[in-house]
Amino acid sequence: MLVEFESFLKNNLPKVESFYPDFNQALGEMLDAGGKRFRPLLLLSVVENSAPFLVKNAMHIALAIEMLHTYSLVHDDLPAMDDAPLRRGHPTLHVTYDEVTAILVGDALNSHAFYMIANAPLSDEVKVKLTSILARDGGISGMIIGQAIDCKFEDEKLTLEQLKFLHVNKTAKLIAASLLMGAVIGGLDENKQKTVYNFGLKLGLLFQVQDDIIDATLSSEEAGKPTNNDEHKNSFVNLLGIDGANKEKSRLLSELEIDANCLDDGLSRCLKKIISDYFKG
Ligand code: IPE
Ligand code: IPE
Ligand code: MG
Ligand code: MG
Ligand code: MG
Repeated sequence: MLVEFESFLKNNLPKVESFYPDFNQALGEMLDAGGKRFRPLLLLSVVENSAPFLVKNAMHIALAIEMLHTYSLVHDDLPAMDDAPLRRGHPTLHVTYDEVTAILVGDALNSHAFYMIANAPLSDEVKVKLTSILARDGGISGMIIGQAIDCKFEDEKLTLEQLKFLHVNKTAKLIAASLLMGAVIGGLDENKQKTVYNFGLKLGLLFQVQDDIIDATLSSEEAGKPTNNDEHKNSFVNLLGIDGANKEKSRLLSELEIDANCLDDGLSRCLKKIISDYFKG
C-alpha cells in the first residue's frame, strides 16, 4: 500500500506555473525526500479494512495529511524553532535555499493539503468532515498549540501532566486524526470513530516517546535528522530519564496491545502489525 502511496505522491507533487520554476523544486523536495509515511499508512489501513474499494480515492487524503505533516517539519526545522540542518537525510530547505523559501514552502504545503481534500473524489459531506478534523488536529487545537508550548517552555520544566498535554497536541492528535479520517472515509459509525481516535491518541504518545528516545540514543545518520537536540526541551527522556522513557514506551505498547482488541478484527491485526514494525524493530 505504501508503494502505491509513494507513486501517487510522486505524481502529485505540488507545482505552480510561473517564471520562477526553481520554486517547484523547493516545493516538492521535502515531501519527496521520504520519511516513514506513518500517518498515510494509518489512514489507508483503516480504509482498507473498512471500505477497500475506496483506497484509491483515499490516496488524496493520505497525501493531504503527509503534506500538512511535512509543512510542520519544514517549519519545525527553521532557525526560529529547532534550527535543524538535516531532515529525512537531506539538508533542510532553509539551508539549501533560504528561510523565505522554507517559510513559504511550509505555508504552501499547509494550504495545499486542504486543496487536495476539497478536490478529492469523495462525497462533499465526507470532505467537510475531513477538512474539519485536519484543521482541528493539525491546527490550533492540536499541532500548533503543542509546538507553541514546546517552544515557549524550553528550559522550563513542565509537570508530567503538562508534558503529556504538550505531546498529545504536538504529535498524538495528528496521528489520531489519521486513523479517524480513515474511519470517516470508510463509513465507520461514531462509536467506532471514537474508539480508533482514542487508540490513535495513545499511539501518538508512544510515537513521541520513541521520537524522544531516538533523539537521545541514535546518531544523526541513523535518524536522518540532528539528534541530541532535545537537551533544553520537555522531552520524555528529560523528564523520566532514558530508563523511565523506555518503561513508558513498554507500558504504552502493552496497553495498545489490549486496546487493539476492541477494534474490528482486520483492523486490529493490521494495526498490531504496524506497531510491531515501527516500535519493536
Ligand atoms: C517527526 O515525525 C516529528 C514528530 C512528530 C515526532 P516523523 O518521525 O513521522 O517524521 P518522518 O515523516 O518520518 O520524517
Ligand atoms: C516536532 O517535534 C513535531 C512537529 C509537530 C513538527 P520534534 O521537534 O521533536 O520533531 P523532530 O525530532 O525534529 O522530528
Ligand atoms: Mg520541535
Ligand atoms: Mg525538531
Ligand atoms: Mg524530536
